[in-house]
Amino acid sequence: MPIEQRDKEVILTLPSDESTAVRVLLHGANILSWTIAGKEQLWISEGAVLDGSKAVRGGVPLVFPVFGKANSGPTSTLPQHGFARLSTWEFLGQVSSSPLTVQFGLGPENVSDALRKAWDFDFTLIYTIALGADTLETAMRVENTSKVNWDFQILFHTYFRIPDVDKVEVNGLTGVSVKDKVSKSDYSESNTTVTVTSETDRVYENVNNDILIASAGKPLFDIYRRNVADVVVWNPWVNASKNMGDFCPDDGYKSMICVEAGSVSKWTTLSPGQTWECSEKIKSLL
Ligand code: BG6
Repeated sequence: MPIEQRDKEVILTLPSDESTAVRVLLHGANILSWTIAGKEQLWISEGAVLDGSKAVRGGVPLVFPVFGKANSGPTSTLPQHGFARLSTWEFLGQVSSSPLTVQFGLGPENVSDALRKAWDFDFTLIYTIALGADTLETAMRVENTSKVNWDFQILFHTYFRIPDVDKVEVNGLTGVSVKDKVSKSDYSESNTTVTVTSETDRVYENVNNDILIASAGKPLFDIYRRNVADVVVWNPWVNASKNMGDFCPDDGYKSMICVEAGSVSKWTTLSPGQTWECSEKIKSLL
């Protein structure tokens, strides 16, 4: 069965290869797993909480309507990364068989009262997930169904599974302006390849190139983005991963890197009735 709807999750399985599949938790519409010919492409913590009581540590959490914590404005009372990853989405069904495509929806009725109090605008999010033989495409349509303008940020917080963080290389970021949250400085990326040797938490702004993640020169993933200008590179390394109660095992940081496509360095404003769309396509080269 290409689409299986369970109580708390939806599973997409490629008809031509049962071991190529995607598992999506309704809580957060969080992709938990993406396998190609049985090989897992994403990293998820062994301590990830899947019961809906908190955001999932791994896979592809969705960040909306704020990235991180805002200091001021209407989203400043929301928890870090907003409410999309904290809410249970509705499964809207299959929309195509080639590629195998499903949709999920989120509106104010799916958001808890406490989070609605923090940000009480009306909106509709339609999240589309398409599984190909070696690709995973995610797309978001954001609609303002309020009577007033509102601003948002959005991001696909993808945790990639990698063989060894010491060997990982992120290509496509040379010359890009960086906001570095660890060194608390701004600079232009001078390296032709970004490597990770300590805690890394950077927002690369207005990235024009496609991104290639490699391991010691061996290509792992191509990332193609549409209408999401920024790329976040995050690895918590030793100390920050120990400080996250749901990050397991302790040395899990060695086999993951978050390369996150989003629109986060600026706010996007939507007027009543206006819609906005973005997408990301990941091609596995493993
Ligand atoms: C990244 C941020 O996108 O997400 C980091 O740049 C943050 O600053 C990380 O630590 C994880 O966030 P959270 O809320 O899932 O622990």
